[in-house]
Amino acid sequence: MRKYWWLVRQQVRLFLRKLVLSIRGVFFVPTSAALKSIRYRQLPSPVHWEKVAGDREVQVEIGSGHGEVLLANDAARSIRIGYEIKSRFFTLTFRKIRRRDDVFVYQGSGYESLKLHYTKESVDIVYILFPDPWHKKRHSKRRPITSTFFQDVAQKLKKNGKILVVTDWVEYADFIANEAKNVTSIYEVTVKPYSAPEFGLPITHYHQKWIRHGRTFTAILLQKKR
Ligand SMILES: C[S@@+](CC[C@H](N)C(=O)[O-])C[C@H]1O[C@@H](n2cnc3c(N)ncnc32)[C@H](O)[C@@H]1O
Repeated sequence: MRKYWWLVRQQVRLFLRKLVLSIRGVFFVPTSAALKSIRYRQLPSPVHWEKVAGDREVQVEIGSGHGEVLLANDAARSIRIGYEIKSRFFTLTFRKIRRRDDVFVYQGSGYESLKLHYTKESVDIVYILFPDPWHKKRHSKRRPITSTFFQDVAQKLKKNGKILVVTDWVEYADFIANEAKNVTSIYEVTVKPYSAPEFGLPITHYHQKWIRHGRTFTAILLQKKR
């Protein structure tokens, strides 16, 4: 019984904290330091990232791994918000970026966060570099990059906003390109060989690893039409 009450109190406290942050977020621009000091579950719905960014772009990275893309952010042009579910990678990245006020990382699902924590038409680009391919047939249902995901993200993207997915897994590239075909009324879709410099991105840990294995890379780029 005691344990039960403790859990209820925890949940109520969490809810109230989120509520206060959400209300504050409408009237005040949350400081970078405030957003750095909270965890994924404490993020208000939504966070007004566009206010944090000011006249800079809002860029999101799902699966930030070792944090190379976050670290390469140009603070004068954009803010970058990364998500990583593995605690080791999250902690590694958090340590590297903790003194910067243009990059953020949270330990939680980037797919979920895009739905919960962003206002409409606030995001310039979503990067998903080398997502887990779920290559076993019985696992393919777990793949989160589907036409439904693309439709949901469209609401959060600005006009001409983009989603860039890069994979070394040929079958996964075909799967994603096929899903993208279902949303051509919303997006301009381009499928082509990936080159990091073309997108102004660094070579990430997994990119480097798959270069050593002699793999080829496909970029699936969706650009919102309206
Ligand atoms: C193959 S690694 C690629 C990491 C990095 N992008 C790179 O290129 O080196 C895929 C990463 O996505 C992370 N990941 C998987 N699902 C995720 C999710 N729902 N939200 C955030 N990160 C996720 C995994 O923990 C893993 O670190």
